[in-house]
Amino acid sequence: MEIVICDSYEQMSKAAAAVVAQTLNRKPDAVLGLATGSTPLGLYRELIRMHREEGLDFSYVTTFNLDEYVGLPSDHPQSYHYFMRENLFKHINIPPQNIHIPAGTTDNYRAFCDWYERRIKECGKIDLQVLGIGADGHIAFNEPGSSLGSRTRIKTLAKQTIEDNARFFERPEDVPVYAITMGVGTILEARRIILLANGENKAEAVAAAIEGPVTSMCTASALQLHQDVTFFLDRAAASRLKMIEYYEWIQAKRPGAPPSA
Ligand code: F6R
Repeated sequence: MEIVICDSYEQMSKAAAAVVAQTLNRKPDAVLGLATGSTPLGLYRELIRMHREEGLDFSYVTTFNLDEYVGLPSDHPQSYHYFMRENLFKHINIPPQNIHIPAGTTDNYRAFCDWYERRIKECGKIDLQVLGIGADGHIAFNEPGSSLGSRTRIKTLAKQTIEDNARFFERPEDVPVYAITMGVGTILEARRIILLANGENKAEAVAAAIEGPVTSMCTASALQLHQDVTFFLDRAAASRLKMIEYYEWIQAKRPGAPPSA
């Protein structure tokens, strides 16, 4: 695991965007796994800027989103379809047929989830997976207690997640209780994973994921089993890491790092 500690949210977003751009420059038809939520907004803004100003090309890219609420149509402002369209897809040149987001309104969820897994494999598997992390250590909607071998499926959201999401809905009873989510096992099959986290409220979850035991009680801790994961953290999110000095030392001594004064 590589831990990159950034001075600000902007720096973290730019560092993550550079990894996405590098992936696309090496493999223009790369398969990207994408997350929603507030964390990757800066990353998406930077990718849009790179597309407009530097010609970063998405015309051969395929994407798979991690999750979607069950019951929300794709034009619902709180659906992840809507989020992705507004915050990324409508601003870049990705062909619509290359975009995959779990369907929140299918009438056969089991068949849809199986198809989603098959489709990822047919497209050659995910080259780069972008993740956020919940305050309880979840990745995608794999709440505490989710199997570390889980695949794409319907998941009942934790009460805490429903409460956290309530601010986006008019009435608390409008918050969906179920979501379709890639499983932890699905995520671990990506060739490379980057996890972004900012803010003090993520510090505990980040420390548990990086330095705690591998446990289904913090599904992000399963990333310790992956061979190519980078955490991009701002200082607040990194503040509970016991080994922070060591991570900064490694970063400073990385080949290509500027020589220290
Ligand atoms: C969203 C997702 C979630 C979020 C996590 C953090 O697709 O998979 O796991 O990454 O809940 O959300 P934010 O970024 O809003 O704090």
